[in-house]
Amino acid sequence: MSGTVADSANALLTVSGLETYFPFGNRWFGKREWVRAVDGVDLTVRRGEVLGLVGESGCGKTTLGRSVLRLVEPTRGAVDFDGVDLLSLKGRGLRAMRRRMQIIFQDPYKSLSPRMQIGQIIAEPLRLHRIVPEHEIEMRVQGLLTKVGLEPYFMSRYPHEMSGGQRQRIAIARTLALEPEFIVADEPVSALDVSVQAGILNILLELQRGEGLAMLFISHDLAVVEHIADRVAVMYRGKIVELAETDRVIGSPLHPYTQALLSAVPSIDPATKRKRIRLPGEPPSPIGAVVGCPFAPRCPEAQGVCRESAPALEPKAAGHFAACHFR
Ligand SMILES: Nc1ncnc2c1ncn2[C@@H]1O[C@H](COP(=O)(O)OP(=O)(O)O)[C@@H](O)[C@H]1O
Ligand code: SF4
Ligand SMILES: [Mg+2]
Repeated sequence: MSGTVADSANALLTVSGLETYFPFGNRWFGKREWVRAVDGVDLTVRRGEVLGLVGESGCGKTTLGRSVLRLVEPTRGAVDFDGVDLLSLKGRGLRAMRRRMQIIFQDPYKSLSPRMQIGQIIAEPLRLHRIVPEHEIEMRVQGLLTKVGLEPYFMSRYPHEMSGGQRQRIAIARTLALEPEFIVADEPVSALDVSVQAGILNILLELQRGEGLAMLFISHDLAVVEHIADRVAVMYRGKIVELAETDRVIGSPLHPYTQALLSAVPSIDPATKRKRIRLPGEPPSPIGAVVGCPFAPRCPEAQGVCRESAPALEPKAAGHFAACHFR
């Protein structure tokens, strides 16, 4: 098999060798260490695709999503968006790019100003970026509300009068006002009631299909990602350990970590009941460098070589990448 993750056809976003470290500990006492939240990530998001990003809490998903938008500054590596080297941009160039790339958060409440009516909240980015002339704003706001499944009368409501699911719809409408080409959706349904999650996921899917949006969809829950993603990247301790079409990751996972994650997802079809793999030990600490495979301390199949040399993310079948010495 040839090819690397980064030379995927039709890429809109290409991330190469990305590292985002945070300082840890007191540099006056003892050794200065680093939290290696993102520790050498390569991936692509193709035009119009949803790339799911899954992994346990603390593995670096949010930091990766924020790093590609430069909401946190990466330590090293490259991020290319539509042919533009994002990490070298400053000032006006960076602001112009940021409009094309947006983020949806887990908790929309924090990003919605409590004193503003919903109509004003959605109109704000339209005015700020002069997306439509003043006399068209109301109509555009109504159109955006319709797109997220809300009636026009919501325009005069305030965030606190709405449910969590409705607030997430408002946050999505405001994001769409900017007409982005790429969205990072960071656990957008994790804080919501299970009963309203599917509604939000379906809105995101319709938008992605209707407007050709590309999306990095982050979740700790593989069952949610399975529902929405075209391809899935599995993250473990700051690294991507498997990346393939969703059907491949779910149906024939290669990496022992993906297999363990999957075994914890209840199967819809009882005939294909999965055998639950219990991972020994705790989720790994992201502090400091790892020698060998980061999954080795918990891997049921680890051998001596796993503790000595780190497996690279390599193609194991067409379009199916995994980082394991024995796959
Ligand atoms: N600003 C920060 N400063 C220091 N450590 C951070 C910061 N942001 C995240 N981390 C650490 O980086 C690791 C990855 O965090 P995060 O990206 O939030 O993971 P996830 O979204 O997968 O739960 C965690 O150990 C977290 O504590
Ligand atoms: S390289 Fe070794 S420790 Fe790492 S996942 Fe593969 S078998 Fe397990
Ligand atoms: Mg997170």
